[in-house]
This record gives sequence, structure tokens and C-alpha cells, in this order.
Amino acid sequence: MNICTLEISIDGYELIDIVALDSNQLIGVCKLWLNDREILSECHLEGLFVAPSYRGRGYGKLIIDKVIQLSKDNGKDTIVLQVHETNSVARTLYASYGFIEYSDPDDRGLIDCYLRISEPH
Ligand SMILES: CC(C)(COP(=O)(O)OP(=O)(O)OC[C@H]1O[C@@H](n2cnc3c(N)ncnc32)[C@H](O)[C@@H]1OP(=O)(O)O)[C@@H](O)C(=O)NCCC(=O)NCCS
Repeated sequence: MNICTLEISIDGYELIDIVALDSNQLIGVCKLWLNDREILSECHLEGLFVAPSYRGRGYGKLIIDKVIQLSKDNGKDTIVLQVHETNSVARTLYASYGFIEYSDPDDRGLIDCYLRISEPH
């Protein structure tokens, strides 16, 4: 399995597309936005997805490991994301990394989470 990244700068927005490949098969994706928030020390994880036939084999964790490394490499100290209240698999995954859920679900059922990465987790 390989994890590849594509750094994109578009009209002042900086993001990194992360793709996980098994041979030539795309098995997982994620986006890391570096500056779409007002707080410059934060970055925003969005769109984590592992192909259904590859789930439960640790690829989600490998992608998050990469996200954390990229966040540190870009001088960020906090990763933020939103997760749906019914998404128990993702909530368990994020909790295992120490993500803190800090809001009640909004009107779409989304909960805000953050992970501080300045200290070892
Ligand atoms: C969430 C998702 C990315 C996890 O990817 P994955 O490759 O299956 O995850 P991993 O195999 O690395 O598992 C990581 C952890 O997730 C949790 N997990 C995975 N599958 C689970 C299941 N069926 N039930 C409960 N928890 C589960 C566990 O905490 C697991 O850690 P463990 O193996 O040490 O117990 C994947 O299920 C997915 O793409 N879901 C649809 C899209 C989505 O919900 N994305 C998140 C949006 S916020």
C-alpha cells in the first residue's frame, strides 16, 4: 500500500489531497485543508473515505497517521473535523487518536472535533 499526496494551491486556499493505493487500485482518500479556517495553527481534515472492501484492515488509521504527519510538517498544532453523530465507526476511530468532541450535533447531526498534535498522543 502506498500513500500519495498532492499539494494544491487554488486562489489562496492550500490543501493536500491524500490518496491510498494498493497497486493501481484507489482504496482510500482524504483532504487536508491548511488554511480554510481563521485560526492559522489549525488544519481541517475532510472527506476521509476507505473503499468498503478494504475497511477494517487499518487503512483508515494509516491515512490519519499521514494526516497527522502532514499537519506537523506544515506547522499546525491542531486538526479539526466534523463527524456525524450516527457514524460510530468514525467516532471510535477518531476517539482512539484522542480527538475531542466539543459540540452538540448541529441541525445536520454533525459534531465538531479537534485533536491537539503539539504534544505526543
Ligand atoms: C471510517 C473509515 C474511514 C474507517 O476506515 P477503516 O480503514 O475501516 O479503519 P481501520 O481499519 O483503520 O480501523 C480503525 C478503527 O476504526 C474503528 N473501526 C473500524 N471498523 C469498525 C467497525 N466495523 N465497528 C466499530 N469500529 C470500527 C476501530 O476503532 C478501529 O480501530 P481498531 O482496529 O484498533 O479497533 C471507513 O469506515 C469509511 O470510509 N467509512 C465511510 C466514510 C466515513 O464515514 N468517513 C468518515 C467521515 S467523518
